[in-house]
Order: sequence, then structure tokens, then C-alpha cells
Amino acid sequence: MNPRKILVTAALPYANGDIHLGHMLEAVQTDIWVRLQRMRGNDCVFVCADDAHGTAIMLSAEDRGITPEQLIDDVNAAHQRDFAGFNISFDNFYSTHSPENQAFSESIYTALENNGHIEKRSIKQLFDPEKQLFLADRYIKGTCPKCKAPDQYGDNCEACGSTYSPSELIDPRSTISGAIPEERESVHFFFDLPQFREMLRTWTRSGALQDAVANKLAEWLDEELQQWDISRDAPYFGFEIPGAPGKFFYVWLDAPIGYMASFKHFCERSGYDFDAYWKAGSDTELYHFIGKDIVNFHTLFWPAMLTSAGYRLPTAVYVHGFLTVDGTKMSKSRGTFINARTYLDNLNPEYLRYYLAAKLSSGVDDLDLNFDDFVARVNSDLVGKVVNIASRCAGFINKGFDGMLAAELDDPALIASMQSASEDIAEHYEKRDYSKAVRLIMALADNANQYINDQQPWVVAKTEPGSAKLQQICSTGLNAFRLLICYLKPVLPVMAEKAERFLNIPALTWRDSQRPLLAHQISKFEPLLTRVERENIDAMIESTRAAYAVKAEQLTKETPATNAQNKTPFEPEIQFDDFAKVDLRIALIAEAEHVEGADKLLQLTLDLGLDADGNSIRRNVFSGIKSAYAPEDLRGKLTVMVANLAPRKMKFGVSEGMVLAAGPGKDELWLLEPHAGAQPGMRVT
Ligand code: MSP
Ligand code: ZN
Repeated sequence: MNPRKILVTAALPYANGDIHLGHMLEAVQTDIWVRLQRMRGNDCVFVCADDAHGTAIMLSAEDRGITPEQLIDDVNAAHQRDFAGFNISFDNFYSTHSPENQAFSESIYTALENNGHIEKRSIKQLFDPEKQLFLADRYIKGTCPKCKAPDQYGDNCEACGSTYSPSELIDPRSTISGAIPEERESVHFFFDLPQFREMLRTWTRSGALQDAVANKLAEWLDEELQQWDISRDAPYFGFEIPGAPGKFFYVWLDAPIGYMASFKHFCERSGYDFDAYWKAGSDTELYHFIGKDIVNFHTLFWPAMLTSAGYRLPTAVYVHGFLTVDGTKMSKSRGTFINARTYLDNLNPEYLRYYLAAKLSSGVDDLDLNFDDFVARVNSDLVGKVVNIASRCAGFINKGFDGMLAAELDDPALIASMQSASEDIAEHYEKRDYSKAVRLIMALADNANQYINDQQPWVVAKTEPGSAKLQQICSTGLNAFRLLICYLKPVLPVMAEKAERFLNIPALTWRDSQRPLLAHQISKFEPLLTRVERENIDAMIESTRAAYAVKAEQLTKETPATNAQNKTPFEPEIQFDDFAKVDLRIALIAEAEHVEGADKLLQLTLDLGLDADGNSIRRNVFSGIKSAYAPEDLRGKLTVMVANLAPRKMKFGVSEGMVLAAGPGKDELWLLEPHAGAQPGMRVT
């Protein structure tokens, strides 16, 4: 059979937040499926990207005093590190803020317009006169018009549950500036979704969707289908609509197009043929893995857009439920809104991959991460059942037989029965019934452990040391172990790699399960996985809670009404390692200049001594010290700088570090100056 050609996507995380364990559920679900396909010999490409556009990203960059481009670059790097930490095997992780995505968005939009699927009309919307921008509903708060509860969002009341339009709110305020919003009119562009009703009725029932999803959509398709507003007015961080200055594509228009753009970017590097995957009528397979909150975008708007623009439809859209932690929605104050990075700082990623696999099904139900259950499953299944088989057999083979496996098995029937499960297991994975796959694999592990308990190699080693019997028993055990590893490999890539090294075999493919490993030299046993300790989980929860408490405190500090009682001034506490990451150096201020148009900044050229080749190391730094110094006061002085700070793009140029300064507030700062003896480039410790 020819290998299948498959393109898989996971939803594009927003570029204004950290990757958390909810995102990880999706990434792990998708990655297991992708790895299974590759092990089966299929050609499976996996792409993703950051979803980089929209008002939220624009505002959050503004808050941090950086450009949106700088923000999304920083976040992209962090997201890639987090996914890599969980061994998510993307072929490409890109950004929707890319030239490819702009080109596709423009051409798809133009096709929609040429095909008569775009309508333009004026609508009324609330406008923030201070910030000079139109306000989405979530940026407006006011008193509920029905029950008079204060502080309710622009479209619905959390107190009485009623929905309304933001202009009905009593005493509305912009949550961005606090200004009273005004109603203003502007022309918006709409995608005429109702024209696709029949096409969508057919497609949603074609087998491309889970039944539960198709049923839900059927309700929409019978009634509520409305035109979709795809434009936003400037200021907006996104792509300008061709021929419509000041109008931008709504982030959700170009977000799914980002799947194409990421793949296109991958094609340029790898030689894959873009059209073979996206042209209408192509015989490759296309799968989108998404969460239940973004179904409409992927199963209504997206297929309709693809159809209008002459592209193929997804083979399937696979929807999963949400991750809850210890039975409730993830919560920052409870410490259960856990970032991927915080998890990785405390626990092995394979634990979570296994736990999620053991609980994931093909449905849209939520999945609960229960920490007691997590500890019990990982320790009893992976350590107690799987690793244990190897550690009980390897020593005898290594010591007594110079690492050589027997040429014959003691119990070929056991191994044969494990081999014959291979297609069923693959089928469960293929259908995303990972919990069924794991259950079946663990049943095989139970059989293998039972076999070893019955054969008692440790007794045979005493009664018949060096015997063929002992060698064959242990070889049977290790073959059983090898099969378990093969079947678990989509879930546990790192453990599988270690096992492959220990067994001294090339990377396992699915077909390898059908050939036992005989008369083969293995390597020394190495620890494959250690037990999960509850204290690491507690530490993870605690640091999540602490990070949230620090943030909450910063927020309250910004409101002058709070008093500063009961607060230690020196928070958050950091560990020595955190401090050690900061590379402080003595710097000579070689140049200091005014910055045109900046009222607080001076531009400094700092000299950090000589590099290995004898060239002087220079850094350009913008510093907010203009209130205390004239440039000529500074030239030739020594100060202290953070030398290993990543360069940051600021309004006036790139700043390559920070100088240390002290003062009562941001507007009055004095530089630190070292005592005599300090030389440029010296490390400050
Ligand atoms: N940017 C959009 C997706 C655009 S796709 C063209 C978005 N981003 S998101 O960061 O909010 O979510 C990314 C994915 O993570 C979505 O599929 C979402 O359902 C999923 N999850 C976010 N929180 C989740 C949980 N708590 N549990 C499981 N999945 C969750 O939506
Ligand atoms: Zn109300």
C-alpha cells in the first residue's frame, strides 16, 4: 500500500499569552496521532504557528512599551521552547504575521470578493474617544440594563444571564481608558456565509466531523446562520485589506489561513508541493485538531472560505474537550492554571503525555487532570509495569550472557499474542481512542509481568546460572518490553529513544513489532523513567500560585487606593540560580547623545572591554536618565550594565542591554558608578 500523504495542524495559540497545560492537551493529542502516522510509514507533516494579530496583542505590546512585532517575536520564541520541551514534533512553527500569510489572505479575500461573497455596509459601534478606537464588547463594562448589576461586560450579564447590545449598558465605560464610549458608524465588510448553507449541510454530514459536533452545527445551519464581520478599523494589528485603507482583516479571517502559510513556508524549505495539499481535488489528507471553543470558525467559516477561493476542504476537523484540573476549571489563584514552562521546571513531560493519552478519547468531553490519579497511574503503569520488566531481565542478560539475547524464546506464544495486538492498537490510535490503546497495552504489560512472576528468573539465576533457560526467559521478557515500548512510542518518544539505545536497535517502526529480537547484543541498562513524586507537583502548584500572587500585587500597586501594609518590600524572592543568570559588567560610557523626539531617553554607547580578538565590545543602550544628566556629564564615566539582556526593539532603535540606575521613580534616576579599580568588561558578582 502506498504511504498516505497527510497534513496535520493544531490550533494556533494566541501570541499574547503563555502556553499552558490546556494548550498542551491539544498539542499532545495531535502529536501522538502524527507520531503514530510516521511510525506506520505514512508521510505526515505537522505544522502550527502563533496567532499574532488582533486588538489584544496590540494593547498588550503597548502596555509593555514595545512594538507588537517585538512582542510576537519574544512570545514565538517562548512558545517554541515550551512545545519543544514536551517533544511536540512540529515540522514548522510559524507566525500568522508573515509574508506568506499576507499573500494568501489577500488572494483569498480577493477571490471571495470577486465571487460576490463580500458585502459592505455601515454599522454602529461603541468608540473610545480617548484611545481613538472601536471597542469590541469585551472592552466595555457597565451596569446591566435588566438587573442593574454593576461592572458587567458589553454583551452579557454574569449576574442575571441576560444578553444585550453594548449600547444598552447603563453608564458604560471603556475598560482600556475608562472613557465614556460614543456610538460611531463605520463601514464593515461581511462574508456572506448564508450563501454556503447547502454546501455546509452536506459537508458537515460527510463524515468529516464527530457526530456530536455535526449535530450541534445542524441547529445553526437550520436557523442562525449570519453574515460574518471580517473587517476591523484602524488602529488594529493585522493585515490591511487590499483596496481599503484603514480597514484590516479581523484576526479570525487570517488565522486559519495561517495553516496554509506555515505549510507554504515549510514547502519552501523542504521541497513539498503546496498545491498537492491544498488545491481542490487533491488526494492528500488534511486534518485540523482544535478545541471545542473554536468549532464554528473551523467548520463553518473556514470550509466556506476554502470553497469560494477554490481550495480543498479538510478531510476532518477533530474536536477535543477542555482540560480541567482537580475537577474544576483551571484557576490562577488556586495555582492550577499551570504554564507549560512551570510544569517543565518541575516534572518530566512524558508523565503528562502518558496521563493525557491514558484519558483521551475521540469525543469532545472535558478531561480532568487529577493529581492523585496522575501520580498513581504514572508510577504504577510506566514505572511499575513497563520499566520494571526491563529492569528485572536486563541485569541477567548483561551479566550472565555478555548482553546477548537468546536465539530462541522461552515463551513464543506470549510474544506472538502481544504481536497480534498491533493492528488493534494502531486502530485505536488512528481513531484517537488513545485511552483504549493504552488500556490494551497495559493489559499486555500485565501478561508480561505475570509471565516473569511465574518464571522467576531470579530463582533460575541461582539454581541454573548461565543456563539457556535463564537466557531465554529474560530474552522473552525483554522482547515483551520491546513490544510495549514500540506501542507506547507515539506517546513516550523520549523513553522509547532511551529504550532503543538500551536495546541497541534502530528507531522502532510499527512493522518492527512483527519481528522478535533474537541473538542480538543489547547495551547496558539505563534508567528509563523515575517515579513521580508528589512534592514536585506541590512545588509546581505553589509556584503557579506565587506567580499569580505577584502579578495580582503588581496590579493593586498600580491603583493608588490600596495601602502598602503587610507587604514585604523585597519580592518576589528569587533563587541564586535566577540571580546567576544576570551577567552584570562594568561598562565605560564611550558616547552619550540626546535622542531626537524622546523626552526621557539618552542614547549611550557602552564599551565593555576587548573580546578574544582584541576588538572592543560595544553596546548601544537607551536609558531613561535624561532628567538627571546632560550627555557631556556622562562621557568617560564607568557604570554597571546588564550585558546579557536580549536586544529589544524600541521606538528609537534597538537597545542592547540596560544600565543600572536608582531613583525614587521612573522620572528621576541616577546611574551606579563603581569604585576605583573596576575596569570595563569586568564581571560584577
Ligand atoms: N488563536 C485561536 C486559534 C486560531 S486557529 C486558526 C485560539 N487560540 S488559543 O490560544 O485560545 O487556543 C488554542 C487552542 O488551545 C484551541 O484549540 C483551544 O481550544 C485550546 N485550548 C485552550 N485552552 C484549553 C483548555 N483548557 N483545554 C484544552 N484545550 C484548550 O483559540
Ligand atoms: Zn443583569
